[in-house]
Amino acid sequence: MADPKHGNAPIIVEETVGKKAYCMCGLSGKLPYCDGAHNRENTGIVPHVCEVTEAGKKAVCQCHKSGNIPWCDGTHSRG
Ligand code: FES
Repeated sequence: MADPKHGNAPIIVEETVGKKAYCMCGLSGKLPYCDGAHNRENTGIVPHVCEVTEAGKKAVCQCHKSGNIPWCDGTHSRG
């Protein structure tokens, strides 16, 4: 069992419309998306699954403390 990894800055992606699974354990090999690492590492954490309705540049939270998961809201820079 591995500990979750929390980053200190978002990952910027050119996102497309559709159903997405964003990694919440930080252990994925294809961040910011889930690759099943939460299961392999038995973290007890699940990805954030949502429907993206608007394509474009997005900042995906990596500290996992945003008040607007999966998007960065600046919480990572407030200590
Ligand atoms: S990375 Fe910015 S609020 Fe989490």
